[in-house]
Amino acid sequence: MITPPSDAAVAAEDFLRTHHDGRPGRQSEGGEALLTADGRSSYRILADRVAGARRVLDLGCADGRLLELLAEAGAEALAGIDLSEGELAFARRRPALAGADLRCGRAQRLPFGDGAFDAVVSHMALMLMADVEHVAAEAARVLAPGGVLAVAVGGGAVEGQARELFLTLARPYFRATSAPAPTPRLGDRRTRSRDGLDEILTPHGFAPVTWETVTVDPRGTPERVWDVMAFTVYDMADLGAEQTAELRTRFLAESRALVAADGRLPCGMLIHHATTRLAGR
Ligand SMILES: C[S@@+](CC[C@H](N)C(=O)[O-])C[C@H]1O[C@@H](n2cnc3c(N)ncnc32)[C@H](O)[C@@H]1O
Repeated sequence: MITPPSDAAVAAEDFLRTHHDGRPGRQSEGGEALLTADGRSSYRILADRVAGARRVLDLGCADGRLLELLAEAGAEALAGIDLSEGELAFARRRPALAGADLRCGRAQRLPFGDGAFDAVVSHMALMLMADVEHVAAEAARVLAPGGVLAVAVGGGAVEGQARELFLTLARPYFRATSAPAPTPRLGDRRTRSRDGLDEILTPHGFAPVTWETVTVDPRGTPERVWDVMAFTVYDMADLGAEQTAELRTRFLAESRALVAADGRLPCGMLIHHATTRLAGR
């Protein structure tokens, strides 16, 4: 029996679809700007988790940057699904993805056959999905026995750095927004913790996850850091031009005290990488 999406899922997905359709390609531009101390993006780390997998599906693939890295690493059969047709159109223009099977749809109801993939990945997307048990069930269904599930989810701001300052300054603006359709509550908080993910995944035949937290940082001037945050934090879309300009001025002024001797503003963000395997091999 096919369970229809919950009201929370419909509201969240309408918002995400509209948001991403209006900004295709922005997501990976932001993601590629965020690097670990040794210069790796979180996409690269996730791609390495499934190295050697031949058939890989990306849940919430957006503009296809992770799939592109997987193609370059030698994966032969790539597929992605996303709510946003705009993001998928961007992904289809990547030469490396000419042969990829890119579908517009919901990760809660995958248009792929049983056991079709050796690995399923999801970068900064599972944490936004409502009805996440359905996503877990579908990932288990489309994975071959012994297949790998590797996900990256947001872990919050590094204390005392610019991302935390940004969020402290921005929250009152977000709360006071008069946007006609403000950002709804997104996702299931359990996806952002190790125990929570195990609670979601193990009933579907996955082993307990292995867990690694990395810190990524745009490592730029305050202006650059502002730009990255302004186009990767969803709620920024709720602010008008005047509020955005006021918040920017306050952020640039108050972050001055945090700027390092090399002119860069430390702005760490934690990303959790969880990897598990489906029972069966
Ligand atoms: C924060 S973006 C991350 C995109 C991409 N993985 C990346 O890191 O560059 C989240 C993406 O997940 C997609 N998404 C969210 N919920 C989804 C769902 N239930 N099914 C398919 N895609 C979904 C959104 O449309 C959006 O493109």
